[in-house]
Amino acid sequence: MIVACMKAILLAGGQGTRLRPLTLNTPKPIVPIFNRPFLHYQIDLLKQVPEIDEVILSLNYQPQRIEEIFGDGSALGIGIRYVVEPQPLGTGGAVKYAADGLTESVVVFNGDVLTQIDLAAVIGMHRDRRARATIVLTPVDNPTAYGLVETDAHSNVRRFLEKPRADEITTNHINAGIYVLEPDTFDRMPAGVPCSIEREYFPSLVERGETFVAHIYPGYWIDIGTSEKYIQVHRDIMDGRFVAAPFQDLAPATKAVSPGARIDGAAVVEGPCFIDEGAVIKAGARIGPYSATVSNAILGRNCYLGRSVSVNGAAVLGDNTTLTDYTRT
Ligand code: GDD
Ligand code: MG
Repeated sequence: MIVACMKAILLAGGQGTRLRPLTLNTPKPIVPIFNRPFLHYQIDLLKQVPEIDEVILSLNYQPQRIEEIFGDGSALGIGIRYVVEPQPLGTGGAVKYAADGLTESVVVFNGDVLTQIDLAAVIGMHRDRRARATIVLTPVDNPTAYGLVETDAHSNVRRFLEKPRADEITTNHINAGIYVLEPDTFDRMPAGVPCSIEREYFPSLVERGETFVAHIYPGYWIDIGTSEKYIQVHRDIMDGRFVAAPFQDLAPATKAVSPGARIDGAAVVEGPCFIDEGAVIKAGARIGPYSATVSNAILGRNCYLGRSVSVNGAAVLGDNTTLTDYTRT
């Protein structure tokens, strides 16, 4: 029996500048969502397709930090290989570099998108349509931060326009950063030099009239690449809009408390919130819904931290300090 095997490439080499300061010491693919490095969520999704036997992590920024966490993937039940570019090659150059030697259809993921898409259905469409490339599209309110994609009545891609200006918006469908591609189409990208999959490769498929189809996904999808979206993901998981650890078995809006957290019986902890291992919450403390993040910090008495506040990096807050909503230290 022949068992078909597919590879998936996760583009995880960006510097995450829009997520600073979170990404100063932590590369974007492993910023934590609650207590798990982000890429875990993507690997969970890829594992739903049994044919995918190996994930190729395409890296260039702090690759050793990522390797330390995921190793060869055996602990996660899927093979993981690391491909580190000698210099950032852009999204297209990185795919070409990571796909060297591959001949079968390959799944490609932007390393910062979180979604509940049925990936097997996307692969199925790619095969049914005998496509050279299949792209997932999702609707958003404002496409200017994304790649705008126009399609015809048969789901063929007619135009790909990366980061459109406001006056160029013709549809709310954008590139969700999830593709199935045929490696023999990569010849149109030059080897070893930076190249954009969005600005060069996709438009070239359209120009040449290749079979390039779109799978439209109206469900949960988010790019965690900005601090607003990063906070939003946490709220979505706490509220059950995106079902994931550590809230997957809890009713929406309850609290998730790690077994190693110590909460005094006289403290008040209101959900939804997440209390991690090692947290100590003493009598008199009140943790409110959607509470702030506090790590490596000392809080004096009677401090008030507004919504979505983040206190990091050995901050010491004196008594009665008030941090207004969304403050970051
Ligand atoms: N290996 C490698 N090398 N990875 C890279 C490089 C590189 O030189 N540059 C970017 N990446 C990775 C990033 O880490 C990220 O996971 C992914 O490629 C996309 O880069 P972003 O910088 O996050 O792009 P974006 O969010 O502005 O736009 C992209 O994603 C949108 C969806 O979230 C585009 O693909 C848009 O068309 C799309 O709509
Ligand atoms: Mg992004």
